[in-house]
Amino acid sequence: MWTGPHLLTTHDADPEQLRALLDQARDETFAHDALSGRAVATVFFEDSTRTRVSFSLAAQRLGARVVDWTSKGSSVSKGESLIDTFWTIESMGFDAVVIRHPESGAAELVANHARCAVINAGDGSHQHPTQALADALALGEALDRDRGWDFAGVRVAIVGDCVSSRVARSNAAALQALGASVVLVGPQAMAPKELGEALGCDVAHDLDAVLGEVDAAMMLRIQLERGAGRLLPEGFPYHEHFGLNRLRAARMKDSAVVMHPGPMNRGVEIEGVVADSDRSIIRKQVEAGVRVRMAVLEDAVRRLGA
Ligand code: CP
Repeated sequence: MWTGPHLLTTHDADPEQLRALLDQARDETFAHDALSGRAVATVFFEDSTRTRVSFSLAAQRLGARVVDWTSKGSSVSKGESLIDTFWTIESMGFDAVVIRHPESGAAELVANHARCAVINAGDGSHQHPTQALADALALGEALDRDRGWDFAGVRVAIVGDCVSSRVARSNAAALQALGASVVLVGPQAMAPKELGEALGCDVAHDLDAVLGEVDAAMMLRIQLERGAGRLLPEGFPYHEHFGLNRLRAARMKDSAVVMHPGPMNRGVEIEGVVADSDRSIIRKQVEAGVRVRMAVLEDAVRRLGA
């Protein structure tokens, strides 16, 4: 999971590293001056609500000075490259840069040129490791698996536009590392069997056939900004086939939970009443995001050294 001080992916994550980080986030055993005298930049080339604000808050709670930068209004419009933008920000003396970028591989690219710690806050359709950590924390707490983080026997459906989703890739890796089994559910083009093979997950195209057997349904937005609209036939009744509505939610196990990394499109992948129901742990995922990002930032700066 860690490459030196950088957190770039959950692919091939060490389960013991995952569990240690989740323990720390659960117990909130942070030194609240852990980042005192340190500076953290959030560098976002793509829009965000949850990730950017929670990283910023997490860094502030640990005593860091925080600068939030977005590409809108920046010198990117004058043709500055990703690496030059990164070097410019790093040269101002930041200890950690939290980066989001629409291109897969962008976080690793800058990490290869970095002296500071680089945290991947989402790169294209590739990875979003801290979202997966937040989701594992919220799920473990909801299912009473938060002592030992052993997810053996837990089955999770990741539903919707899996092929465009960095959340699906990061969650598939993290959840399976903790012992869960994962099924990708969606239309053929959004949940292709090749993706399932690559991620080691099952694949299904009938949501109703899967929902009754899962302990969690993680609903995904259709990522129109990555061209996902072309994956569906014209006029395809998406909500009818793959939307988690109240009737479908009622057929889930009593103990099963509903998840969504956000942002949600109510009435498309999830009906509003389901998102707001007692089954939903969506707001807990957001809350878990702050604790997980505190643990990640503390660990990153510790790995960076003096
Ligand atoms: N889940 C997630 O990454 O949300 P934001 O785009 O709002 O950060």
